[in-house]
Amino acid sequence: MSHQLSPQTIELVKASVPALAAHGSEITKRMYAKLFEDEHIKNLFNHSNQGEGGSQVHALAAAILGYAQNIENLAVLTPVVERIAHKHIGYHILPEHYPYVARALLDAIRDVLGEAATPEILSAWGEAYWFLADILKAREVKLRNSIESQSGGWNGWRTLTIAEKLAESEIVTSFILRPTDGGKVIRHRPGQYLTFKLVVNGNEVKRNYSISCGPNDEYYRISVKREANGDGGSRYLHDEAHVGTILEVTPPAGDFFLPDEPSRPVVLLSGGVGLTPMVSMLEAIAKGYPELRAHFVHGALNSATHAMDRHVRSLATEHGRVAVTTFYSEPSVKDAVGLSHDHDGFITIDWLRNNTQIMASDFYICGPKPFLRSLVNGLLKAGVSSDRIHYEIFGPADELIAA
Ligand SMILES: Cc1cc2nc3c(=O)[nH]c(=O)nc-3n(C[C@H](O)[C@H](O)[C@H](O)COP(=O)(O)OP(=O)(O)OC[C@H]3O[C@@H](n4cnc5c(N)ncnc54)[C@H](O)[C@@H]3O)c2cc1C
Ligand code: HEM
Repeated sequence: MSHQLSPQTIELVKASVPALAAHGSEITKRMYAKLFEDEHIKNLFNHSNQGEGGSQVHALAAAILGYAQNIENLAVLTPVVERIAHKHIGYHILPEHYPYVARALLDAIRDVLGEAATPEILSAWGEAYWFLADILKAREVKLRNSIESQSGGWNGWRTLTIAEKLAESEIVTSFILRPTDGGKVIRHRPGQYLTFKLVVNGNEVKRNYSISCGPNDEYYRISVKREANGDGGSRYLHDEAHVGTILEVTPPAGDFFLPDEPSRPVVLLSGGVGLTPMVSMLEAIAKGYPELRAHFVHGALNSATHAMDRHVRSLATEHGRVAVTTFYSEPSVKDAVGLSHDHDGFITIDWLRNNTQIMASDFYICGPKPFLRSLVNGLLKAGVSSDRIHYEIFGPADELIAA
């Protein structure tokens, strides 16, 4: 960081935190309304997250508030900056897009605060916005250059063709994707996601899907749960996309991944379709880390929805130091402990305490929000330090950032 915010700017921004807290969502809503007056900026976004109650509104409001609250200690924002920068890479957000958000933000603050928005406050916010924006832009340029310069690397949207489509359970289907141009792909970091621009009933929707295979330079696999409601990105993939369908995709992104040299045993904890990044990590472990101890712990509803079990167990057997344990919360009449799964019910902290090296391991967690909340909080309460708990959220990180 080449320059610092002045003490006056910091004071003015801090002083406006209570007013912003009172109007946080409103400012963000107005900001989006202004931002989306510009069609090409509007098209950068993922519209199902924007509507009334859409989490993206809260994610940005939370980010702005979190930023203002921590303006004297920006180090606490480092992990958030990293996550946002990766998200922006996925959505192909470029430096030239930043002034649009600056204008929209300041207009919205002016509208909502009315007379309380003095020129000094607005100028302090302008300075503070650009301070954060410069940090993000710098990180994004660096990330983008490093991605593009890798073998198989690319910048922005590239087309991948569906080479195979395989049902993994009643609700999850995998897609093998290969470059339409016949070239290579980047070896992703296990845990990262791809971002797709899908055309659903004539509308463009952007969706993230975690890569569910291990790193390689030929193809990616994603595994998608069919959502009955919503805008239909997942229904498009399940019901309409087929072998040969061409999809637009940005390069692998995301700051949730297995490190190159894991130094401790790992516990991979997943719920439902949250297993996708864990299967990528497990494939990477099976291939590249013969000495690493790992425990793959998965919770599903029952055998009808349980995806990739045979694959996971065969990777574990092949490796020799990987344990697998599965839990069913709603076992069907066909299911039986010891046959289809290992335990009835949910994964609990007590179970983890008794069956994993809880204090010696790194935890990688992905699943529905209640699953994440209970396990992340439970592990923290059990004394696991926060730098050993890594998690991914399949949606905007409103709660993550608010925390
Ligand atoms: C980093 C990341 C990785 C992911 N990886 C995977 C993966 O590996 N596999 C996978 O299957 N999914 C994954 N997802 C989720 C995926 O991106 C989509 O969100 C999912 O497929 C649903 O998309 P959709 O268009 O079908 O439904 P959506 O339109 O997104 O709707 C999904 C659900 O949200 C509800 N909903 C929609 N809009 C609103 C709203 N405004 N307010 C309240 N509720 C609403 C709908 O009723 C529906 O139940 C990932 C997400 C992220 C962020
Ligand atoms: C200082 C400036 C910015 C901040 C603080 C910021 C903050 C955020 C946050 C918190 C998220 C959610 C991340 C997550 O869910 O993990 C996000 C995502 C996103 N941001 Fe930004 N952002 C900034 C600038 C921009 C700009 C300039 C654009 C484009 C005009 C943009 C477009 C997006 C898009 C498209 C997403 C994906 C979210 C979605 O639609 O679901 N952002 N940003």
